[in-house]
Amino acid sequence: MHSSDSFLIEVNGQPIEARPGQTVAAALVAAGIRAFRRSPTGQPRGPFCGMGMCFECLVTVDGQPNVHACLTPARPGMKIITAGQA
Ligand code: FES
Repeated sequence: MHSSDSFLIEVNGQPIEARPGQTVAAALVAAGIRAFRRSPTGQPRGPFCGMGMCFECLVTVDGQPNVHACLTPARPGMKIITAGQA
């Protein structure tokens, strides 16, 4: 769904749409991105608790690694790197 106040963020070099008040995790999942990080054996991992209690949603935000995507509000122009994409 397109909203007139939506904006773009960049995920692994690709633009995706986000909306005001949306977390990075919500924006990624809405865009069909499920793999936020990789387990030690290489399996994809994505948001689990949605409230900052696990570490399944860690991504790199504007060069800062290990940011909880579920706790981070999306901002226009922010650059997200998911694990395995750096
Ligand atoms: S989904 Fe558990 S900390 Fe973000």
